[in-house]
Amino acid sequence: MEERRKKLTILDLYAMKERGEKISWITAYDYPTAQFAEAAGMEMLLVGDSLGMCVYGYASTVPVTMDQCIVHCDAVRRGAPNTFVMGDMPFMSYQASDQEAVRSAGRFLKEAGVDAVKLEGGIRVIGRIKAILDAGIVVCGHIGLTPQSSGQLGGHKAQGRTVGSARLLIEDALAIEEAGAQLLLLEAVPPEVAGFITNRLSIPVLSIGAGPDCDGQLLIVSDAIGQFQAFTPKFVKKYANVAEVVTNALAEYVKEVKSGSFPADEHCYHMLKGEDEKFKDLIKEYA
Ligand code: KIV
Repeated sequence: MEERRKKLTILDLYAMKERGEKISWITAYDYPTAQFAEAAGMEMLLVGDSLGMCVYGYASTVPVTMDQCIVHCDAVRRGAPNTFVMGDMPFMSYQASDQEAVRSAGRFLKEAGVDAVKLEGGIRVIGRIKAILDAGIVVCGHIGLTPQSSGQLGGHKAQGRTVGSARLLIEDALAIEEAGAQLLLLEAVPPEVAGFITNRLSIPVLSIGAGPDCDGQLLIVSDAIGQFQAFTPKFVKKYANVAEVVTNALAEYVKEVKSGSFPADEHCYHMLKGEDEKFKDLIKEYA
């Protein structure tokens, strides 16, 4: 465990790219997980709209609202005061207009104190990215597999696996950097393409399922600790099996409640010294 002395900023992330030090990034949706991640030495936290599936049990990220994101960002910010925390702009918080995008991004900063916001899309959202940057907010682009528009992609499919598709990704990445975004996330992209983009761009380029050559790696915490059960993407590595640990613990609790072995004497608050004799008298009144 590492104790971090100062709060990380975008400049620290640039410096890490500069010296070739990989950036560690994971999602978090609540206060305890944020605390654990900061204690583990994580540089970045994403309060992803994946909270729709991981916390609320929705089938996709589409139903997630700004209000839900703000509540979870606020909790994560408190749990990880020195980590670079990013809010993920949910579906329909930025698609309709530049103004709405700026208002939504601003809420993340004003109401939850995040360090940056992320929005999905390349050239088609360049106007939104510029508008949010003009409001003085740090922006992370997100291209490749973009879950909010997975319907247009024909499902949750890796992107950039043909030369034509790789070219589109490269053009998107260049446009995002040119617009002034400070970070870029590549999701489900071949390592060959991700490595090229990482070397070509001067901003930190992070990977979720985009191979080892990016400047850092992101995982969804519920996948990484074995909490989310519905499906596991190819790029996930499980570092723990929390579902098994928690289910076993709860099954043990059920067993002990039924057998009466919980609670034991050490879990009880006994009456104060001298009160038990008086209590016997009290009971007699109700006999
Ligand atoms: O919501 C999220 O966690 C994300 C990742 C899938 C990149 O956007």
